[in-house]
Amino acid sequence: MGSESIIGARHIPDHVAIVMDGNGRWAEERNRPRLYGHRAGVKSVRTVVETAREVGVKHLTLYAFSTENWKRPAYEVKGLMALLKNYLRTEQQTMLDNDIRLRCLGQMDRLSDGVRDTLAGVMEVTAPCSAMTLNLALSYGSRSEIVEALRTLAGRCAAGELDPSGLDEQAVSDQLYTTGQPDPDLFIRTGGERRLSNFLLWQLSYAELYFTDIK
Ligand code: FPP
Repeated sequence: MGSESIIGARHIPDHVAIVMDGNGRWAEERNRPRLYGHRAGVKSVRTVVETAREVGVKHLTLYAFSTENWKRPAYEVKGLMALLKNYLRTEQQTMLDNDIRLRCLGQMDRLSDGVRDTLAGVMEVTAPCSAMTLNLALSYGSRSEIVEALRTLAGRCAAGELDPSGLDEQAVSDQLYTTGQPDPDLFIRTGGERRLSNFLLWQLSYAELYFTDIK
């Protein structure tokens, strides 16, 4: 796309995956607590979702919380979960109005009952929506996603339901959280780091990678 504005872009990617990094440093640069940065991050989430829907992106995946993020100080984890729950409650109607389906990529069972129930509720009511799928990666780690998929496939082989010689790339893709969705064509990471950080390692095989220093 070069420097062309995305609004005027001729080719809109089907699936965009974003690592929303740099919230903490953005806040620290302003002598504010990290949660101030995450609150600003939620505003950016709203803008990104709205813009993606407007320009015709069909699948948008946001890395909202990694399995590694559980190791952050308890107050930060608690604050992030509160922001997430609040976002889900306030955005449900907007998602319905804009025909956006919510899906979760990650270990939903590790989320608190409150967050999980809210998430499940929004996923259920938006299930018929089809203009865009918003995937929130929550308690997500790509290696464990792949291990889990292989475990399932190995179990089916051991049970005689599957022949190992028939296993192919599609069989693995079908076991991932993103099953049924195309792989991302574009990966974006904000915040200045140039890494994938255990995000969609299988699915990003052919994606274009775009890193920006913007926080
Ligand atoms: C990375 O910044 C961002 C996160 C770990 C959390 C992003 C999550 C939210 C904004 C909360 C709600 C999510 C949604 C989808 C509404 P960082 O803290 O790693 O920043 P740093 O690299 O500067 O430390």
